[in-house]
Amino acid sequence: MKEMVMSQEQIQTICQKLGNQLTIELAHEEKIPLFVGVMKGALNFFYSLVPYVKRKIMTDFVETSSYEGTHSTGIVRLTKDLSISPNGRTLVIVEDVVDTGLSMKFLVAYLKQHYKPKRILICALFDKQAMRKEDVKVDFSGMVLTENKFLIGFGLDYRELDRELPYVYVPEEKDIQEMDAMLDGDKAESLR
Ligand code: IMP
Ligand code: MG
Repeated sequence: MKEMVMSQEQIQTICQKLGNQLTIELAHEEKIPLFVGVMKGALNFFYSLVPYVKRKIMTDFVETSSYEGTHSTGIVRLTKDLSISPNGRTLVIVEDVVDTGLSMKFLVAYLKQHYKPKRILICALFDKQAMRKEDVKVDFSGMVLTENKFLIGFGLDYRELDRELPYVYVPEEKDIQEMDAMLDGDKAESLR
């Protein structure tokens, strides 16, 4: 049996709760807040969350990369920048997982260096506090994990697989082996 970490129903309840909190937090903004999803992992979460934010917002995306397989490489790169200016606006970063905090620390520093947002808020579906190496505070978190678990589903992938699942689970060794075998047989289709 797979270890279910967040069911489809739980995801909806959590997104509603976070949406309510953000609606209150952003009630008195002068400029329209900008919600920035971190691709690709946060896309599922992003589009489940924003319908629960009961005010006008703008949406944009950035892409960072540091994970390969089940482990972070530790080197973070920005592979897609913003297309809407966040200057003067509250910028809400929507992320799937804050793990070591390296990606988020890099992203916040990058955004502060290149733009002038009014402030930056961080909203993450999972806050893996046990793994933190950098001092990153998640302002709005869906679930705090104190144990190190590798999660997949609902945007979170193993080698680009399982992002489409409507729930989040911890894969077993045999799930990983199955996916590795599937990918071995699929090499011709890969771009890289
Ligand atoms: P950090 O830089 O170590 O905080 O890693 C953050 C990034 O790694 C997140 O944006 C995720 O996309 C990815 N990540 C972290 N933990 C997991 C996981 O358990 N499953 C899949 N991706 C993860
Ligand atoms: Mg991510």
